[in-house]
Amino acid sequence: MRLPIIAGNWKMNTNIDQAVELVKEMRDRLHGIDGVEKVLCPPFVSLSAVKGIIAATSVRLGAQNMYYEEKGAYTGEVSPNMLAGLCEYVILGHSERRQYFGETDEIVNRKVKAAVGAGLLPILCVGERLEEHEAGKTEEVVTRQVREALVGVDTPDGLVVAYEPVWAIGTGKAATGEQANATIGLIRETLASLYGADFAAGTRIQYGGSVTAANIAEFVSQPEIDGALVGGASLKAPEFVSIVEQTSRVRRR
Ligand code: PGA
Repeated sequence: MRLPIIAGNWKMNTNIDQAVELVKEMRDRLHGIDGVEKVLCPPFVSLSAVKGIIAATSVRLGAQNMYYEEKGAYTGEVSPNMLAGLCEYVILGHSERRQYFGETDEIVNRKVKAAVGAGLLPILCVGERLEEHEAGKTEEVVTRQVREALVGVDTPDGLVVAYEPVWAIGTGKAATGEQANATIGLIRETLASLYGADFAAGTRIQYGGSVTAANIAEFVSQPEIDGALVGGASLKAPEFVSIVEQTSRVRRR
């Protein structure tokens, strides 16, 4: 049985005070929910403050990005070693990184290698753009992104993959549970071809893209979908708590 994982990607929202307030609003309720791994991914500048507030709870911490070099003259960047010890997870290859910051599959691959090397658990994001979706290229694109991201990576234990169709992110137009389940099944097959059936069967694959309290049950009731990467709805404490609660309930059935 794979433990479902719900991660909140706060993106470039909240200053430190707002982050502290938001996490205080949800901490105790999240802590009380069993059967789901809960991860918060605030901006870099708030990681330390949020870490303090969730210490001694079951809530885990993740970063939204990192650079692949260990240290040096890379003004403005954050290295794997800076994050190790601060958080457990790191979102890599998010479509906004690919779209606005020119991250290629090769860069994502370097980041995955660096994260694994530093003991961080990647939440590797893949997903097709609207025109690729309409051209029937979903399988091709997603399979390529998974393979390229993992070139030269030895069995990445603890890896999480997030399938996020780009056309569903922040648009209010989520995929259907069935669509997401089918593509996630393909991702699992790709993982099986790379690392074997046991690895694939044990690896969690999330859906992301306009997940809300109103549609989370549709996703997590699908057999292949092991949780969600939540953007906008993770900034509202009651809604995020509801998403986690519903996941726990659906998975216990
Ligand atoms: P959204 O974002 O939930 O706001 O669509 C999801 C994501 O980008 O991870």
